[in-house]
Amino acid sequence: MVVTNDYTRDEHARRYARVSRLMPEVEWDVHFDMVRAIEALKRERNAIVLAHNYQRPEIFHGVADVQGDSLQLARAAARSQADVVVMCGVYFMAETAKLLAPGKTVLLPDTAAGCSLADSITAADVRSLRVLHPGVPAVCYVNTSAAVKAECDVCCTSANALEIIESLGEREVIFVPDEYLAAWVAAHTRVRIIPWRGRCEVHERFTGAEIIEYRRSTGAYVLAHPECSPEVQQAADYVGSTSGMIAALDKARPAKAVLITECSMADNVSAAFPDTQFLRPCNLCPHMQRITLPGIRAALERLEPAIEVPAAVAPAARACVQQMFEQMRRLAA
Ligand code: 13P
Ligand code: SF4
Repeated sequence: MVVTNDYTRDEHARRYARVSRLMPEVEWDVHFDMVRAIEALKRERNAIVLAHNYQRPEIFHGVADVQGDSLQLARAAARSQADVVVMCGVYFMAETAKLLAPGKTVLLPDTAAGCSLADSITAADVRSLRVLHPGVPAVCYVNTSAAVKAECDVCCTSANALEIIESLGEREVIFVPDEYLAAWVAAHTRVRIIPWRGRCEVHERFTGAEIIEYRRSTGAYVLAHPECSPEVQQAADYVGSTSGMIAALDKARPAKAVLITECSMADNVSAAFPDTQFLRPCNLCPHMQRITLPGIRAALERLEPAIEVPAAVAPAARACVQQMFEQMRRLAA
């Protein structure tokens, strides 16, 4: 099959406008051949590239068809007409995409792209919690393995955790694995939250004292992810998911902002907020950083590594994710 490649130098220069505040054009130009090759492979394979908000700018602005938080990417995977989905994110995101789009080939360019939260809990741990708290529903953060999801009633993301938990109409709920997201939910609901002790290795590094000092010395508007500690959450002007932060920035349009989250996020959103100066406390997620343009190209060439969810857990894990969408539909009705 002959595939025409209409990714031109002009198109590359046009995309540069999105990152011109971050890098000199000569640095962007280094990526031209790789982006051009990936664009050709996307057409050849009928593939779509999904990029989490924490991805490198050359992926986020260079080759992604859909950008967003974990909830938005999961939805995009389910809705897409593509045959192949390339997940530029971490393992649990690729697994979630495969659960929602079982007929598609879901590629994760580096299968070692894990997550400290997903690794903090096993299916056996959830079973033990259920034995300790009989009859109490179990909600899991989407940052979990399919095996853990299979043991839970419904999953959620940081964008909808509070709504999903309250939608169950229960007095108490098991919520795993992020103890800080659980603390944030507990502070905003009357539902008794039974947490686990998982943490994000990136967000737990920020301290409350650091945030207070940022605000004092710069006057910046502070937005924090709920995976940060309660001290950081209390010191922030806004607490929410990565998509929530973008919406809050859009509303506040501050002169200076600091995003207390993975550091690529400020790079990626800065193009949409040209009048905001982003201060960058830099904590990178080592797992997200494993995804590179050469890795995406190789995955599309070889159609691997393709993610499969073990048949023994796939139906129950899928039901857990679909229940999240069901609860959201009910809430919207
Ligand atoms: P979001 O759900 O906000 O995309 O966050 C996912 C994540 O891994 C944050 O560290
Ligand atoms: Fe996991 Fe934290 Fe990385 Fe998000 S930033 S993928 S929660 S380790």
